[in-house]
Amino acid sequence: MSDMKQEISRRRTFAIISHPDAGKTTLTEKLLLYGGAIQLAGSVKGKATARHAVSDWMELEKQRGISITSSVMQFEYNGYCINILDTPGHQDFSEDTYRTLMAADSAVMVIDAAKGIEPQTRKLFKICAMRHIPIFTFINKLDREARSPFELIEELEKEFGIGTYPMNWPIGCGIDFKGVYDRKKKAILAFNEFHRGQNRIKAIECDLSDSEAVDELIGENLRRTLVDDVELLDGASYEFDLNEVRNGRLSPVFFGSALTNFGVEQFLNSFLEMTTPPLARTTGEDIVDPFDERFSAFVFKIQANMNKAHRDRIAFMRICSGKFQRNEEYFHVQGGKTLKLAQPQQMMAQEREIIEEAYAGDIIGVFDPGIFSIGDTVCATGMKVEFEGIPTFAPEHFAAVERVDTMKRKQFEKGMMQIAQEGAIQIFREPYSGIEEVIVGVVGVLQFEVLEYRLKSEYSTDVRRRALPYQEVRWIGNEGLDPSTLNLTSDTKWVQDFKGNNLLLFTASWCVDWALKKNEGLILREFNKN
Ligand code: G4P
Repeated sequence: MSDMKQEISRRRTFAIISHPDAGKTTLTEKLLLYGGAIQLAGSVKGKATARHAVSDWMELEKQRGISITSSVMQFEYNGYCINILDTPGHQDFSEDTYRTLMAADSAVMVIDAAKGIEPQTRKLFKICAMRHIPIFTFINKLDREARSPFELIEELEKEFGIGTYPMNWPIGCGIDFKGVYDRKKKAILAFNEFHRGQNRIKAIECDLSDSEAVDELIGENLRRTLVDDVELLDGASYEFDLNEVRNGRLSPVFFGSALTNFGVEQFLNSFLEMTTPPLARTTGEDIVDPFDERFSAFVFKIQANMNKAHRDRIAFMRICSGKFQRNEEYFHVQGGKTLKLAQPQQMMAQEREIIEEAYAGDIIGVFDPGIFSIGDTVCATGMKVEFEGIPTFAPEHFAAVERVDTMKRKQFEKGMMQIAQEGAIQIFREPYSGIEEVIVGVVGVLQFEVLEYRLKSEYSTDVRRRALPYQEVRWIGNEGLDPSTLNLTSDTKWVQDFKGNNLLLFTASWCVDWALKKNEGLILREFNKN
């Protein structure tokens, strides 16, 4: 195998998703710890430490003690080169969260064992399901009181409409949590101490059929319950089928406790065996093979002002095929220009490093002088591919925004446009109305605050914001349709996004049904394929 092929085959790129507080940060930390990428747990996003170092406007983030942006971490483990895409942990969502999932080949879904599925798990799952990427479930916090594992599994299957395959099974929970049963090995992995922290812990392995030894480890009561549980599981659960896993139809489930390290290493090893190397990506009618030697990538995220000293942007790209080389010239498809990607960087745990080369599966950040938009393709000259755009997801909160100082029109417009191009907000206008207010749509309300903060600090513009009552937005899918001819409820508003697409804003979901009923042939879409 060529060096390039070897490098690509050992890449694993995945996103970790969860509802806030389920333990995503803790699990990420433990994974990095096993990879030797960090020395101490607590240093990835230690509530007070390095994670704030990234940027200027993140002052806001710092003040509120939250993480708005997603970051990427790369580390080595057992011959694999792992890229973890972290998604924002705060309950306020941004589209970045969704887009990050576009860059991943699989997802690890962390669930709090006491709470089960929570609202954000639901939203994120939908996006993963849309892409049919494999989803691995880590049910966390077994060292605390937890719901019945059967109930949790059933909830996953019912709510998400997928099959599950428990890879292991918890033995007790809370103070009685003794370890897990490994279904493949048919053995229990008992832990003899709670270990809050930094070291790998050695599990004591014992075959379940050796009742005496098992009794000694976990007690007779827990053994009996376990034997019954295993029997029930073997009889009732789905068959394991790697193909189903890789198509996102069967989710392998792991029980454990990230904080105390229970089951983390087992999870990592088994997850790596099951996940795929970088997946092929579609470009219109063609499919780009990751092992194609020619470099290609798409932009999935743009972040402003990473560096205090410069007011510039970083475009994050997911490499889809081949090998990236620092001083090579590449073609920016949407811009129609050949260029060198300046200051290519990668996050290695906490360090940002300039890199010389990178491979399919990797994420690189490049200096963006304002030429890139979300979804853009960059590829080897002469390759002529264009990856399918990243969909624009329907915002869930709306506000009318206008500038306070009427003199600041230029800064206001420039700021709004740039922030919208980065994909941090979506902006809409009422066509032909002459109204200067801009309607802003966001996925999470925190984005409003980010917008106000950035307009003030980067564009010296104060704005007034008025909440709008819209709850649903739909892109009109009929080409050439004049929206002013539609029969709509009086509170439905026709607007255009900054690319000129027509949309309708509705105050309630029944208004959407009403519009569809009253306008035969009308096509309304929940997201726009750009
Ligand atoms: P998130 O990124 O998904 O938002 O969650 P995070 O890892 O920050 O974890 C949220 C809280 O849950 C943290 O406690 C963390 O220590 C705790 N936690 C994570 N995994 C486990 C686990 O397996 N068992 C138990 N018992 N707790 C767990 P905190 O008090 O909010 O923060 P901290 O003071 O511990 O940092």
